[in-house]
Amino acid sequence: MIKKVLIFVFLMAGLSLLEAVDNSKGATIFNERGCVMCHANDVDMIGPSIRTIGIRYSGNENALVSYLKGQGQPIIYPERDAMMRPQLMKIGNLYEEEYRSLARYMIQAFMRVDF
Ligand code: HEC
Repeated sequence: MIKKVLIFVFLMAGLSLLEAVDNSKGATIFNERGCVMCHANDVDMIGPSIRTIGIRYSGNENALVSYLKGQGQPIIYPERDAMMRPQLMKIGNLYEEEYRSLARYMIQAFMRVDF
C-alpha cells in the first residue's frame, strides 16, 4: 500500500517537473519575441499584466491558444486590440506545443513563488 502511494507521489512530482520545463519554453518565447515590452508581470501597462492575463484565462488554456494563433476574440481590452494584433504575427510560426507552452506560461506564471 505504502509502496503504491510512494509511486503515485513520485509520478505526480515527475509530472509537475515536466510541466515546469514545458513552461520555461513559453517563458523564453515571451521574453525573446518582445512581449515584455508591453506586458509586465504585475502592472497593467500598454497591455494587461501577465497576472491579469493569467487570471482572466485561468482554466481556459484552449481559448488563449486560439487567441495566440489569431483565431480567437480578445476578452481583456478589446478596444485596444488593434495594438496587439500585429504582435501576433511575431508568433505566427510557432508549433502547436509552443503555443500551448506560451499559453500555460501566461496562465500559471503568477502562481509561482518566484514570480
Ligand atoms: C506594442 C505593445 C504590445 C506587445 C509588444 C505585445 N502586446 Fe499583447 N497586448 C497589447 C495590448 C495593448 C493588449 C490589450 C488588447 C487586448 O486585450 O486584446 C494586449 C493583450 C494581450 C493579450 C490578451 C488578449 C485578450 O484576450 O484580451 C495576450 C494574451 C497578449 N497580449 C499576449 C502577447 C504576447 C504573447 C506577446 C508577444 C508575442 C505580446 N502580447 C506582445 C500590447 C502588446
